[in-house]
Amino acid sequence: IGYQQKFWQDASLPFDDEQEGLNDQIVLNFSHVVAEDTPKGQAASKFAELLEQKSNGRIRVVIYPNGLLYSDDEEFDALQNGDIQMIAPTVSKLTNLFPTFQVLDLPFLFETDEEVERILTGPLGELLLNQLSRLEMKGLAFWNNGFKQLLSEDELILNREDFKGLKVRAMPSKVLQMQFTLLEATPITASFDEIYSELENGLIDTQENTVSNLYSKGFYKLHKNLTISNHGILSYAVILNEDFYNSLPSDLQDAVVEAMNEATEWNFNHSKQMNEANLISLQALEGVHIENLSLEEKEKWKILFEPIYTYYRDEVSSNFLKEIQNELL
Ligand code: LMR
Repeated sequence: IGYQQKFWQDASLPFDDEQEGLNDQIVLNFSHVVAEDTPKGQAASKFAELLEQKSNGRIRVVIYPNGLLYSDDEEFDALQNGDIQMIAPTVSKLTNLFPTFQVLDLPFLFETDEEVERILTGPLGELLLNQLSRLEMKGLAFWNNGFKQLLSEDELILNREDFKGLKVRAMPSKVLQMQFTLLEATPITASFDEIYSELENGLIDTQENTVSNLYSKGFYKLHKNLTISNHGILSYAVILNEDFYNSLPSDLQDAVVEAMNEATEWNFNHSKQMNEANLISLQALEGVHIENLSLEEKEKWKILFEPIYTYYRDEVSSNFLKEIQNELL
């Protein structure tokens, strides 16, 4: 008996034949924190549409965007408890549980979206995803959002000295925290849904995020200086509750995997252009200042960030980093 089916049968009695179709339908609740019009939001909708088609309506995917149900601090526990069936957190937010994942946070590891796709959809990505089973989670895929940029309040960040003394919102990942400490800034951990009010209350001076996240949440209305630095990536681990997955009959498990493969392909084909389109919209806005980090400065940041690579090699896994770097050659 299916997990969700059991829930329905326990919760609703009696049911007649007419209701049976509805009662047999399995509901997959998918919670995430970003807006719908973003690489993750759109890939989630694509997945829902594909899975409903492939399962002939036997699975209905209900998406809760914008942290409506859970913030990113809460969603992993909710998934483990079976309160929801699916999440797609940013990889950085899982690094305390799965330290090897920190490799994807290393600054300037990736140069292009194609490189990100090659790693995240290849055998090394699969090795990372398989780790989720240790906590009884079913890792389905990685999705990409894109490269992170810097949005700041008072001035554009064009040199590493510009960071000195700033309060920077950072996700809970040691690599990201080290990055800002090396820039002599103070990392402040805040969940995604807290950022807007933290900006309003002057609690943070700057943040790193993708253009699509900065645009869709209107952060640019409060902080108007955008540096295109492409210094790191923001990617997602798409995860199902393992009991839920195991409770599905095998044809529906196949439908989930197929729908995920197609939604993932869609995500990698569209995330770059979504960020580019949002950048064009930001460029058109009066009062928003946008500049690129110079190549010369980028080289200096790379040198400054070397201790982060040393940390990963010494304390996490020098072999895994070597394998990724070889794959990127
Ligand atoms: C953030 O917290 O800035 C991002 O992880 C949000 C997201 O899910 O893209």
